[in-house]
Amino acid sequence: MSLTDWKAYKPVLIPNIKDYHKIDVYEKHGGYGALKKILADQDTLTPQHVTETVKNAGLRGRGGAGFNTGLKWSFMPKPDGGPRYIAANGDESEPGTFKDRVIFEFNPHTFIEGSIIAAYAMSITTVYVYIRGEYRSWIRMMEKAVSDAYERGYLGQNILKSGFSVDMVLHSGAGAYICGEESSLMESLEGKRGYPRVKPPFPAQKGLWGRPTTINNIESLANVPLIFNNGADWYKGTGAATHPGPLLYGISGHVNRPGVYEYPTGMLVTDLINEVAMGVRGGKRVKALIPGGSSTPPLRGDALDGVRMDSDSLRQAGSMLGTAGMCILDEDTDMVDYLWRVSHFYHHESCGQCTPCREGTGWLEKTLLKIKAGDGTMRDLDLLLDLCTQMEGRTICALADAAAWPVRYTITRFRDEFEARVKNTVYALS
Ligand SMILES: Cc1cc2nc3c(=O)[nH]c(=O)nc-3n(C[C@H](O)[C@H](O)[C@H](O)COP(=O)(O)O)c2cc1C
Ligand code: SF4
Repeated sequence: MSLTDWKAYKPVLIPNIKDYHKIDVYEKHGGYGALKKILADQDTLTPQHVTETVKNAGLRGRGGAGFNTGLKWSFMPKPDGGPRYIAANGDESEPGTFKDRVIFEFNPHTFIEGSIIAAYAMSITTVYVYIRGEYRSWIRMMEKAVSDAYERGYLGQNILKSGFSVDMVLHSGAGAYICGEESSLMESLEGKRGYPRVKPPFPAQKGLWGRPTTINNIESLANVPLIFNNGADWYKGTGAATHPGPLLYGISGHVNRPGVYEYPTGMLVTDLINEVAMGVRGGKRVKALIPGGSSTPPLRGDALDGVRMDSDSLRQAGSMLGTAGMCILDEDTDMVDYLWRVSHFYHHESCGQCTPCREGTGWLEKTLLKIKAGDGTMRDLDLLLDLCTQMEGRTICALADAAAWPVRYTITRFRDEFEARVKNTVYALS
């Protein structure tokens, strides 16, 4: 569908169907149909064919990096008879991101079905689902959904008498953001402290317990049945050409109607703010938009015209799609305070393995606190940018970059406000 008639879009990831989370209702509306179709015709719909279809449909990971999902699957080595794993990433701890939990609550079976199809495509023996520990009620909902899927024969041994078998195991996190990073997620699943691993080797070569592993986000896997139900052409034609498909937009901050909304990728940021989320509270202006979770560089409110929510458009605008967790900050927001809060989070969540991250996140927080308290100097602004340079691209995992980017881009894009704070003058949005 074209993006001009987005108002006519009918949600498919979270369809407007009562009790869709229940397996009876899901099946009644065609649920598990894609899996049945594939398993019934394994001569044509071979694992390679399924992988190629997902690759050509253009599905890009919804966990933050936007990597082509089918291409990632194709990196798995040939089966050697030993165990192979999917780690489904539902850690969802980045501030501003709260969309996977909507899948757990309203459509767990699409995710389960997508995981089984992915398992078939990569000859996986076990799917681990890593769920944010704070999501207690959603973990219980997932337990029920998984147990129902076992009972109906969609999980376990010899699924639907197809000869294909796969198990699904739920695992709850314990409140560490770093465990959403794919290699520390694997450490955590193995029962160890969640320290990210040095790469290479990459998970497809040496993942969980040294065996081939693919890590996919929950929403990425939930997209898979949609490709087989509606066809790769439908998928490719939905939303932005280079980043297609349905997308869950998590909208928070100073808007009248925050929430998770499903629309195609590539929506205009202004439509999402003004029409979907019904504008900024009190009719105020947007000072800043954080487009995809707290690690994505904020954009100025006066630079949002024409910007679309897909990787290419956001890269051109100077940010990233991330998880499409959009946070809108109104004209009264204190950007120094905002940046200090974000830096406090990253300092708290750094695992401490790498010096630039362990020390750098601490210095960012400390320096911002000094500026916030009114004791900052102009040199502190340059010190912050220098710290970012010392952190970016120099560490084991991307947490250091995630901590540095908001600092670099908030200071450069809202420099006048930071300078006003340092000089002790009053700042107002012009
Ligand atoms: C510090 C950090 C935290 C992350 N947290 C998550 C998370 O909560 N959920 C997620 O899917 N990906 C997270 N990621 C990205 C994962 O490492 C990985 O790229 C992703 O799960 C792959 O799934 P996808 O290809 O389907 O997007 C995080 C990355 C970093 C560096
Ligand atoms: S970058 Fe930070 S969070 Fe990542 S491994 Fe290094 S110290 Fe740990």
